Amino acid sequence: MSRNTSADIVAQQEDEARRRPRGRTVRPLLALVPFIMKYPGMIAGAFVALVMATLATLAMPIAVRFMIDNGFSRDDAGSIDSYFLALLIVAIVLGAASATRFFFVSWIGERVTADLRQAVYAHITRLSPVFFEVTRTGEVLSRLTADTTLIKSVVGSSASIALRNLFMFFGSAIMLVYTSPALSGLAALTLPAVIVPMIVFGRMVRRLARASQDRIADTSAHAAETISAMQTVQSFTHEVEDRRVYAHAVENSFDTAKLRILARSGMTAIAIVLVFAGVVGILWVGAQNVVQGTMTAGTLGQFIIYAVLCATSIGALSEVWGEVQLAAGATERLVEILQVTPQITAPANPVAIAKPVRGLIGFDNVSFSYPTRPEISALNGFSLSVSPGETVALVGASGAGKSTVFQLLSRFYDPQLGQITLDGVALPTADPTHVRAALAVVPQETVIFAKSAFENIRFGRPEASREDVIAAAHAAQAHEFLERLPEGYDTELGERGITLSGGQRQRIAIARAILRAAPVLLLDEATSALDAESEVLVQKALGNLMVNKTTLVIAHRLATVLKADRIVVMADGQIIASGRHEALLAEGGLYARLVELQFGRHAAE
Ligand SMILES: Nc1ncnc2c1ncn2[C@@H]1O[C@H](COP(=O)(O)OP(=O)(O)OP(=O)(O)O)[C@@H](O)[C@H]1O
Ligand SMILES: [Mg+2]
Repeated sequence: MSRNTSADIVAQQEDEARRRPRGRTVRPLLALVPFIMKYPGMIAGAFVALVMATLATLAMPIAVRFMIDNGFSRDDAGSIDSYFLALLIVAIVLGAASATRFFFVSWIGERVTADLRQAVYAHITRLSPVFFEVTRTGEVLSRLTADTTLIKSVVGSSASIALRNLFMFFGSAIMLVYTSPALSGLAALTLPAVIVPMIVFGRMVRRLARASQDRIADTSAHAAETISAMQTVQSFTHEVEDRRVYAHAVENSFDTAKLRILARSGMTAIAIVLVFAGVVGILWVGAQNVVQGTMTAGTLGQFIIYAVLCATSIGALSEVWGEVQLAAGATERLVEILQVTPQITAPANPVAIAKPVRGLIGFDNVSFSYPTRPEISALNGFSLSVSPGETVALVGASGAGKSTVFQLLSRFYDPQLGQITLDGVALPTADPTHVRAALAVVPQETVIFAKSAFENIRFGRPEASREDVIAAAHAAQAHEFLERLPEGYDTELGERGITLSGGQRQRIAIARAILRAAPVLLLDEATSALDAESEVLVQKALGNLMVNKTTLVIAHRLATVLKADRIVVMADGQIIASGRHEALLAEGGLYARLVELQFGRHAAE
């Protein structure tokens, strides 16, 4: 994936996150407190910078008053210099403090996002399969990227704007009262008349803006779908219809935009008139005071500037409020993931499985149904004991519960009834990572990562050397074809291994399991038809893999069945027969039928 498109995807997801529900309250943001509190030094820095910047801004109007009242008199020319110098110093402090505030607050925003991403990802890696059965991958991904990005923009910028304006609001309000209690009273009366309509209009504009964004998303979804399938559109002569649909969507988005523009123009007019009317009114009263000599011109100037500061801070606060709500929604969704408790966890004092693991497996009267489908029992009174080094083949119709046996042995789920043991240790009393470390699994569907062939094999044991990897590839009959790839073992295999054939993918999965060198081997044979030659190669690879290991193999190939020490026939989550090939065939039950169906009539004879 090129850099460009992944950036696009992030942008798209962020866009999507912005259109998702906002928090009803901002309470979920409290969940971020522990993440932020980890950096008290940075918070202190941000706080100090914030206070400094506020104080510097609030000092400006005082300097202005001195200038107006004293600065312009001819007999005191010397003090002009000091007033302007003071103003300059204030400006420098303001600049430095603002820059520092920006640095600290943005740093905290980035850091919190980084920590949050890691925490969520780490938590996801601990979750049991049930979580992934009920949650779409795209959903989880968008929480991980888009929601965290949203939180970053809020913690790192909107929060800073909000804090600065909150400080500014209280600071300037105090200074207003200090400068002129009478005029402040008057301003307090006019303020709501200015602010309330602006807030109402602001909300409306924002809602319309969101609606027009949604419309744009509609148009681009339709365009993307049809453009990528233009050939189909043309071959079905569907152009006219598509043009009509697209035009309709575009016109819709224009209509919403028109409303938005109208509301925005109205808001601009009203805001300007109201603000100026308020200012003019207060100025007028103030001017009367100046004429009557109860107030100096400088004090009036100072008052006006504070009033402007106060009003703008309220305006800014109402603007970032929407952002803060968005972040509250995003935080809620992330906390939701963090609060999912993994179904499978290690007990406080796990029982150790003695090393080396011998590979004694026991299923004792196990009954199990998947959490998402409680009414169907996937296993039903299933009992099976496998001795160390034994090879047991599981056969049975599709849906008989064969893969489920592996799922339970890997402890991805716990059975509702019965007990599963490894070397005599009941699985729930052990640490699941220790159980899984004793298993090497070749799953039904091969998973290849978008990495090099080398890395794909080394996935089985990340600390393995290059020699180990090559030896495993040899044993899996994969060395030869890997060598012939353009860059040998270092060839990138592409997403899901699209550059390989099915048999090649399987042999990489087998090499991975060989490298893992675990005492228990779980082999879910793929049904995918391999050509005769790769079938022989894969068989040989599997033979190498099974040496000296307890092996449970879900068998679809006759060769595998014949090699097994014991064959277990399953139907509807139960064992209905077991024994060796010839004996089972002689019994003439389900096994004989399966053999005939799966491996052909001649095999059964
Ligand atoms: N994750 C799951 N959630 C719910 N039900 C499941 C899940 N996986 C399997 N099942 C159900 O459990 C039953 C046993 O499935 P299982 O995968 O063990 O069959 P199988 O014997 O491996 O079949 P196949 O040969 O087709 O792979 C089936 O009825 C299946 O629909
Ligand atoms: Mg299966």
